Amino acid sequence: MKLLTAFSMACAIAMAAATPVEQALERSTVIGQTPDFGYDELLILQQGFWERFKYPNNLKEAESINSTMFSEDVQGRVSDTRNFAGRELNTEYIFGLFTPSDATSIIGRPGDHEIVQFVGVKNIAVASTRVNFTFPSFRNISLPVRIDTWLTWNEAREISQYDVTFRWFGYLFQTLIASLNPADPLEAQKAAVTAMATSVCNTHTTYCNGTSSQYESRDECFNFLTQQIRVGQSFELGMNTLMCRSVHEIMIKYRPDVHCPHIGKTGGGMCDDSIGYEEKVTEKYFVNSPWMLQ
Ligand SMILES: *[C@@H]1O[C@H](CO)[C@@H](O)[C@H](O)[C@H]1NC(C)=O
Ligand SMILES: *[C@@H]1O[C@H](CO)[C@@H](O)[C@H](O)[C@H]1NC(C)=O
Ligand SMILES: *[C@@H]1O[C@H](CO)[C@@H](O)[C@H](O)[C@H]1NC(C)=O
Ligand SMILES: *[C@@H]1O[C@H](CO)[C@@H](O)[C@H](O)[C@H]1NC(C)=O
Repeated sequence: MKLLTAFSMACAIAMAAATPVEQALERSTVIGQTPDFGYDELLILQQGFWERFKYPNNLKEAESINSTMFSEDVQGRVSDTRNFAGRELNTEYIFGLFTPSDATSIIGRPGDHEIVQFVGVKNIAVASTRVNFTFPSFRNISLPVRIDTWLTWNEAREISQYDVTFRWFGYLFQTLIASLNPADPLEAQKAAVTAMATSVCNTHTTYCNGTSSQYESRDECFNFLTQQIRVGQSFELGMNTLMCRSVHEIMIKYRPDVHCPHIGKTGGGMCDDSIGYEEKVTEKYFVNSPWMLQ
């Protein structure tokens, strides 16, 4: 016991003097990556995540900038978009993205949830959850969204990895767009494209100035988004599409210097066609904790 206390104190002293990167390294060696929580606690942890994900609880997480829901070294992957590494980026994408925003986009506000399938073993939790969303850009329509999650938790009860799939996302996407004009889905899509491109360009004008600027004018922005790239299918939210830029638009207010490039012509490493289908399917991304028991 005494030894342990001395060890913790030594760590605390070492951490006080260390740079953030050194602290992160220190933490990852001090905090066990593969604790054995068991089913009941994993289910409680899972419920806790959805509670914090829910609006308005997510506002508090977003304001914290570095949510303690995530480990410093968290690795995340979201189907149909990209991978997100580190606590700050994940606080923005998992909590900040779903808070109210002036942007016109397909992103909704999460409400109550119901976990409908769950299994948990050791530090791995697998769940399928129905979350009720309202969609402000679609006349506040309410729709349930089915989200399948694989999570690993570290000893500090932080999410160290997540692998998330929005089940039936293409169907949700189509349902949302069609809700704008049920009699004429093509017109509905046109209206959605104009509204989203306008919104991205307005955000660019407001936040992406100086070295963060991506377009010389509003016209150039609108023309690029509506004429020179694809609108994007449901699986193309991490590709060279308007839909991808529309998702990233919401992040810009948090850190314009980091996120403005994502709505620009190159896509800033988040919205481009660099990842082929086979690469996507065979990618080996996760290193913090195994997904299978050894
Ligand atoms: C959030 O964490 C990052 C990475 O550790 C750090 O650089 C940044 O200063 C932190 N921000 C706040 C507000 O704590
Ligand atoms: C989601 O909304 C539907 C329709 O309003 C409602 O019946 C259902 O109970 C809600 N789900 C949860 C988990 O609150
Ligand atoms: C949607 O709901 C929000 C908040 O409840 C409200 O401020 C907004 O005016 C509503 N939008 C529409 C189109 O009804
Ligand atoms: C960009 O705009 C912000 C306010 O939105 C301002 O503080 C900053 O000085 C501007 N930067 C440049 C380079 O114009």
